Amino acid sequence: MKDFPQGGPRHVAIIMDGNGRWAQKRGKPRLFGHHAGARRVKEIVRCCPDIGVKYLTIFAFSTENWKRTQSEVAGLMSLFRRYIQREAQALFNEGVRVRFIGDRIKLDEKLVRLMDELELLTADNSKVHLTIALNYGGRDEVARAVKRLAREVKAGNVDPERVNEETLAHYLDTYFLPDPDLVVRTSGEARISNFLLWQSAYAEYEFIDTLWPDFTKDIFAGIVAGYGTRDRRFGAVRT
Ligand code: IPE
Ligand code: IPE
Ligand code: MG
Repeated sequence: MKDFPQGGPRHVAIIMDGNGRWAQKRGKPRLFGHHAGARRVKEIVRCCPDIGVKYLTIFAFSTENWKRTQSEVAGLMSLFRRYIQREAQALFNEGVRVRFIGDRIKLDEKLVRLMDELELLTADNSKVHLTIALNYGGRDEVARAVKRLAREVKAGNVDPERVNEETLAHYLDTYFLPDPDLVVRTSGEARISNFLLWQSAYAEYEFIDTLWPDFTKDIFAGIVAGYGTRDRRFGAVRT
């Protein structure tokens, strides 16, 4: 697994799906699956340096996930708080820089404070860049970016004639990230569910049947190795 060849994906984004079904299969409540899923994250983040993944972005909660029962949403929010509290020091020690994307406005104050603190604590790290998407939706992100950009135009700070792809990308939550090279979704669903819509324009996709709580570093390493055989053309013709 060491010395992964140069052609590996620098930025991998994962839609961590299937926690609920994993729990249901065991006759347990959905939250049991979310807890099992959270434990997986650690192993996956930890193996990134070994397989040459510099940027890892994980989808933890979508702008549509508020439609779930109040008890599942509350359980997830409490899991996020506990996860940050429990893992902050280890993430720092392992050289992980953590950042969050998504709209913080709907999240509770305590959680937002923990998120801010973790970003600050790990701000000087650079071994792995972990981005956690929390209350994130691709359309919501573009709408918020356009709103901020429109304000700048209105204030006379931006010339609308000069707005291009780069300008808009600068206003997105992901302004600090390279585009994902590979997007992985677990649990057998072949859809993107509003994840990184703009950023994934030319990403490779990998849909696998494994439920997220069963996802291991060996499975991850296999997917990353498989990526190296793909021919990315970006619309051009190889000569
Ligand atoms: C993914 O697992 C985690 C979140 C969306 C928070 P799910 O909760 O969607 O699990 P399934 O898809 O119902 O099995
Ligand atoms: C996508 O999974 C969101 C996360 C993994 C956080 P969902 O389970 O919410 O997506 P759908 O509803 O199956 O499209
Ligand atoms: Mg799901």
